[in-house]
Amino acid sequence: MSRIAYVDGRYVSHRRAGVHIEDRGYQFADGVYEVLAVSSGHLVDEVRHLARLTRSLAALQIPTPMSDAALGVVIRELIRRNGVTDGIVYLQVTRGTAPREHAFPKSAKPVLVVTSRRRRSADPRLAEEGVAVITIPDIRWQRCDIKSVALIANVLGKQRARVAGAYEAWQFDREGFVTEGTSTNAWIVTAAGEVVTLAADNTILNGITRLAICDMLRTEGCRLVERPFTVAETKAAREAFLTSTTTELLPVVRIDNDNVGNGAPGLLTRCLRALYLAHAAEVQ
Ligand code: PDD
Repeated sequence: MSRIAYVDGRYVSHRRAGVHIEDRGYQFADGVYEVLAVSSGHLVDEVRHLARLTRSLAALQIPTPMSDAALGVVIRELIRRNGVTDGIVYLQVTRGTAPREHAFPKSAKPVLVVTSRRRRSADPRLAEEGVAVITIPDIRWQRCDIKSVALIANVLGKQRARVAGAYEAWQFDREGFVTEGTSTNAWIVTAAGEVVTLAADNTILNGITRLAICDMLRTEGCRLVERPFTVAETKAAREAFLTSTTTELLPVVRIDNDNVGNGAPGLLTRCLRALYLAHAAEVQ
């Protein structure tokens, strides 16, 4: 089956799909995106993802290309055409195409692109054995709450992780507080049993997976504390993990070559992963 993409109003062959060379996403990274998971044919946390898209668009003053209901129809049609039952939907909206000029063009119309692919089966060892992260300075801008396609700092950070043989890079600010990973949110479990993650402010993306985990922790009566934590604190943590739509929840067992706890995935982390997988599997 050949892959199909949705590009600016049309379903086209993925191989031939393209946007104009003066699309502002291409020239200025002037656009936003979302990544949604498809699980057994349904979209995971669709409402929250589309709400975050609306928020990101509003922050950049890009008009919404269509209603959430219409977008839902496009996404479902694309999934159907691509035969995706377990996979990923990538959705991007740019300000549109216009002659290159920094200020907002008067005439541009937002360009919506949606792609979908089957989930590449993740290496089961990642969840069983846990992953390593490195820590790096956060060199990004001051609106990381917007899911902008301007991801070059994240790209450079992830590459540093790869070169170091790590799975992810946790970024820290000038005071040494961890913000988040390059494409994931960061969590620790302290010796006192608190589950700590940074409160969602302008320095991090408020992950939809993060929100689901926060809900679960509250429901289960765990001690969730949304506060800053330092790199030093991560190394003294009992457990650590990371979350995102594509990675779900993965144990972090090494930080900059130091073991987290005894170097094996923690009990709470494993429980939360199981709860999250159950949440993603249930039809919402
Ligand atoms: N990444 N922080 C950053 C910087 C991210 O890019 C992401 C998502 C997250 C987690 O958000 P969520 O739980 O909503 O996926 C946190 C996506 C998956 C990506 O860029 O591919």
